[in-house]
Amino acid sequence: MTIQLAVLGNPVEHSRSPEIHGLFGAQCGIELDYKKVLVPTGKFAQTADDFLQNGIGFNVTVPCKQDAYHYVDHLDEAARQGQAVNTVSRDQDGRLLGSNTDGAGLVSDVTRNLGWSLTGARILVVGAGGAVAGVLPALLSGNPAAIHIYNRTPEKAQQLVSHLGQAQVEAIEKSQLQDAYDIVINGTSASLAGHLPDLPAQVLDKNSRCYDMVYAAHTTAFNAWCEQQADCETADGLGMLVEQAALSFSIWFDRKVDTGPVLESLRNSTSQNNFEESK
Ligand code: ATR
Repeated sequence: MTIQLAVLGNPVEHSRSPEIHGLFGAQCGIELDYKKVLVPTGKFAQTADDFLQNGIGFNVTVPCKQDAYHYVDHLDEAARQGQAVNTVSRDQDGRLLGSNTDGAGLVSDVTRNLGWSLTGARILVVGAGGAVAGVLPALLSGNPAAIHIYNRTPEKAQQLVSHLGQAQVEAIEKSQLQDAYDIVINGTSASLAGHLPDLPAQVLDKNSRCYDMVYAAHTTAFNAWCEQQADCETADGLGMLVEQAALSFSIWFDRKVDTGPVLESLRNSTSQNNFEESK
């Protein structure tokens, strides 16, 4: 029997999730049909209800992660803390469970694939939107020395920090960006438009590692800037995308997949197809 899954969002046409889950399914001998489902504005619950007539669960992408948070019957800890759901599944009682694998996917890519240590690291996170809110709890679980949040609109960074209520996480303003960080994460949507967040070069030195949460066929604007300023090691968000998908897959099927070959295959097809920046 073919298992029905999907990613729900708007826009959704650019999504690589069908390709990723198709490769995971092939690895595990699970036959699945993973669709992209466009959610008309204001119609998340109806679209989700319709899909769940036949589907066993689904992924959720922008701008529907908060809608999914309100839609499900109960939440895992990461979804509750980040107030966003990227994976919907049914539990043993048939109730809808909302999970968020984005943060764990980022941490898995950073620590396992890239070998960057979060323990004791000073981390600068740029941006304070939904994407950042979703990954902060997982970053904190890596025991960094400090996470500083810098956002174009400072009030949003402050709100995020008060909501989290953790001593290591602090909202900072541009005038406080004086020293180099071990890890700088771009969680803004600026790269999607080819723009750069307004950052002083002193946040980087040659030992800094820079992560752009979006990905592209070419080096993202943010990563190009980091390489230019301090010749830093950089990575884009393709690994995070594959790792969060692997965690969703394990929620649905209770199976662990090998992400390495899937990431490699995606990287190859990304450069061949010249994909624009995406999430
Ligand atoms: P997402 O789901 O991608 O997080 P979002 O919640 O709309 O989307 O948040 C977008 C983030 O990118 C915000 O932190 C936004 O900054 P503001 O809060 O000041 O709007 C940030 N952002 C978007 N474009 C940017 C740019 N050109 N420069 C700096 N920050 C930018």
